[in-house]
Amino acid sequence: MNDLLPDWVAVEVAAEEDYSAELLPAEAAGLGARAVEKRRREFAAGRACARRALGRLGVRGRAVPTSGNRAPVWPEGTTGSITHTGGYCAAAVGLRSDVRAVGIDAERRTILPDNVRGSICLPEELAWCAERADEQWWPAVHFSAKEVVFKLWSPIVGTWLGFLDARLTIDVAAGEFEARIGAQRLAKTPAAPAVFRGRFHVAPGLIRSAGVVTAKEADGWQAP
Ligand SMILES: CC(C)(COP(=O)(O)OP(=O)(O)OC[C@H]1O[C@@H](n2cnc3c(N)ncnc32)[C@H](O)[C@@H]1OP(=O)(O)O)[C@@H](O)C(=O)NCCC(=O)NCCS
Repeated sequence: MNDLLPDWVAVEVAAEEDYSAELLPAEAAGLGARAVEKRRREFAAGRACARRALGRLGVRGRAVPTSGNRAPVWPEGTTGSITHTGGYCAAAVGLRSDVRAVGIDAERRTILPDNVRGSICLPEELAWCAERADEQWWPAVHFSAKEVVFKLWSPIVGTWLGFLDARLTIDVAAGEFEARIGAQRLAKTPAAPAVFRGRFHVAPGLIRSAGVVTAKEADGWQAP
């Protein structure tokens, strides 16, 4: 994941032992008593990666609890993002002096069924994907990039953002995407950022996407 982010963001990808790492007491509540084994393992791996990434920024021994909207609560002065998908888990963390929000996402490279594509992609995005019909994974890239957009939007704006609230433009050669938030959504949250940018990578087994909103970019944006 560090190939998609600036080098001042600390990125850690889980190793096998991270899936059985101990949680700190403040983190365990975020898991819930009824979590199944698969969820326990991915949650543990995410927290292990998050704490290791924080350590690289000089923040050690601090828990990463879970907030009411399921977002991680990062130690003061930091922000970050966690993702997990079958067999892959990563965390990325930055200092708030550098970065206002970090978003990362990983997905298996799957072919989404038509009904799912239609709930993720706007008509113009579907048309763009249809031009690449021999590469059926592009709707899944839209999904992954839009999850990144949500993970950037959520800590800044604090409200819901639907998949059809953002229109993606993908630069295939550069491995970059730009997301423009729709006018209807912005009308409800006028102080929110209108554009988010990120990078993506498609491998046979895995789609990875990531983006940041720097502290400088966020100047002047206030949560409503
Ligand atoms: C929250 C959401 C983005 C998580 O994505 P996912 O692909 O299901 O799962 P991932 O493994 O990539 O990410 C899960 C992690 O996201 C983080 N997360 C959850 N809610 C979050 C939020 N509101 N803000 C930021 N991060 C959040 C958590 O760290 C979670 O892992 P954890 O529970 O182990 O701590 C997704 O479930 C969701 O609700 N999406 C709908 C909103 C959306 O994406 N809109 C698109 C706007 S263009």
